[in-house]
Amino acid sequence: NKGEPLKIMISGAPASGKGTQCELITKKYELVHIAPGDLLRAEVAAGTENGRCAKEYMENGQLVPDEIVVMMVKDRLLQSDAQEKGWLLDGYPRSSSQATVLKEFGFQPDLFILLEVSEEILVERVVGRRLDPVTGRIYHLKYSPPETEEIAARLTQRFDDTEEKVKLRLCTHHQNVEAVLSLYEDITVKVNGSASKHVVFAQIDSTMTKLLKQKEDALGSV
Ligand code: AP5
Repeated sequence: NKGEPLKIMISGAPASGKGTQCELITKKYELVHIAPGDLLRAEVAAGTENGRCAKEYMENGQLVPDEIVVMMVKDRLLQSDAQEKGWLLDGYPRSSSQATVLKEFGFQPDLFILLEVSEEILVERVVGRRLDPVTGRIYHLKYSPPETEEIAARLTQRFDDTEEKVKLRLCTHHQNVEAVLSLYEDITVKVNGSASKHVVFAQIDSTMTKLLKQKEDALGSV
C-alpha cells in the first residue's frame, strides 16, 4: 500500500509548457490529467450551450465564468479514476474563487508547480504550436516537429493561438497569478520553463520523486 495517490497542480502563463509537461508527467506517473482548457474546447467543438458561452471569453483571453468551469472541474475530479490514480490539474485554479471551491470540496494538492518563462519565448511558442486531433499530442513547428508527413498533414491550430490573442491571455494571467500563488505558497515549486522540454521535465520529475518518497516514508513511520 503506497497510501494516497499524488495530487498535483501545474500553472504558468499561456504556452509556458503546461500541456507538454503534463504529457510527460502522466506517462511516468499515470495520474489523471484534467485540463479545463481542453474540456472547454471540447464543449466549443460540440456546440453545447456552455461551449457557445465559453467561446466568447476564450476568444478574448478572459477567464470563463465560474458557473461553467467550477462544476465541470469538480465533476471530473470526483470520477473514480481520478480518485484512485490521483490527478494532475492543468491550468486550474486560476482565481481565488476557484481555489476556494476546491478547498471546500476537500481537493487539496500535494504540490503546486509554477512554470516560469519569459514573454518573448511565450509568443514564439504560441505562434508555432500545432495540435494533432487524432492523438491529442502537442507539437511545435520548430521545437517539437511532427514525426511523420502523415501527422504533419493533419495538424491543426487553436483559435486563440495568435500573437494578439496570446497577449490578452497573458494579461489575464498576470492579473490572477499572485492571488492563486499566495494560497499555495507552502507547496509551490517554481520551475524554469525556458529550457528544453526534457530539461524542464527533469526538474519536475526530481521534485515529484522526492515527494513520493516523503509520502512513503511518512506512511512507514505510522
Ligand atoms: P488553456 O488551454 O489552459 O490555455 P493557456 O493557459 O493559455 O495555456 P496553453 O494551453 O496555451 O499553453 P501550455 O502552457 O499548455 O503550453 P504547451 O505545452 O501547449 O486555456 C485556454 C482558455 O480557456 C483560457 O484563455 C480561458 O478562457 C479558458 N480557461 C482555461 N482554464 C480556465 C480556468 N481555470 N478558469 C477560467 N477559464 C479557463 O506549449 C506551447 C507550445 O510550446 C507548444 O507548441 C509546445 O510544443 C512548445 N513547448 C512547450 N514546452 C517547450 C519547451 N520547453 N521548449 C520549446 N518549446 C516548448
